[in-house]
Amino acid sequence: MSVRYASCRALAPLAHAPRAGTVVVAQLGQTLDGRIATVSGESRYISGREALAHLHRLRASVDAVVVGVGTVTADDPQLTVRFAEGANPVRVILDPNGRSPATARLLNDGAAPVLAVIGDGAEPPRGAEALRLSTDATGRFRPGLVVAALERRGLRRILIEGGAATLGMFLEAGAIDLLHLLVAPMILGSGKPGISLPPVDRLDHALRPQTDVHVFDDGDVLFTCDLRRRLEAAE
Ligand SMILES: NC(=O)c1ccc[n+]([C@@H]2O[C@H](COP(=O)([O-])OP(=O)(O)OC[C@H]3O[C@@H](n4cnc5c(N)ncnc54)[C@H](OP(=O)(O)O)[C@@H]3O)[C@@H](O)[C@H]2O)c1
Repeated sequence: MSVRYASCRALAPLAHAPRAGTVVVAQLGQTLDGRIATVSGESRYISGREALAHLHRLRASVDAVVVGVGTVTADDPQLTVRFAEGANPVRVILDPNGRSPATARLLNDGAAPVLAVIGDGAEPPRGAEALRLSTDATGRFRPGLVVAALERRGLRRILIEGGAATLGMFLEAGAIDLLHLLVAPMILGSGKPGISLPPVDRLDHALRPQTDVHVFDDGDVLFTCDLRRRLEAAE
């Protein structure tokens, strides 16, 4: 299956998002054993070249790309579109305590606007516009409120790019419409786990999104999961 075909089909829900609606897509690049980084936090690059290009096409398809401050600290990502054509999205850091490193590349490269979602009393990092939101009793922003705050700025196609903690919070809150899970033919055997959610006792309480599968020519497999549509469990 060609990369172009796989990517076009997978990106169609973003391209055809209703003009007035909002769509939240999450991505995660993981190994066969469900790891997104080594124990030391290295994640570049678990995904192969074509999966990476897919991620960049995803970025080019959205208005805003969101990461947790843990990813900014660990990876120092640029979150720009480089391996595809298209404009850079607004870059959003979830940083309740204002601990983004001042030297972070995305805060200094001027490649696209940066929004820092910060809690009451926290200082935004230089190079970012502050988007102040209240946190709950556990120090977290409610994902639905983050999405609503971005919507108010006209940012309606939103990519949650990681890391695991951020993705878990959004998934648990039911704030993700589509999940693009990129699985690389690699086994780490240890390292940072990908999706982590509170335990369920019964299999029929598991998320069972409708899922399409695309195989990239260099071996990675893309699962596009529509979390708005549930598959019925087998009898
Ligand atoms: N393979 C991949 O696709 C991929 C993608 C991205 C990242 N990664 C890897 O993932 C690792 C980083 O992930 P991580 O799970 O440690 O961190 P993370 O999700 O990037 O960041 C977590 C932190 O962000 C803040 N945050 C996130 N959501 C929030 C919310 N709803 N409300 C308030 N604060 C929120 C919190 O900051 P405070 O701690 O200040 O409260 C939280 O501890 C790195 O090793 C990176 O390489 C892999």
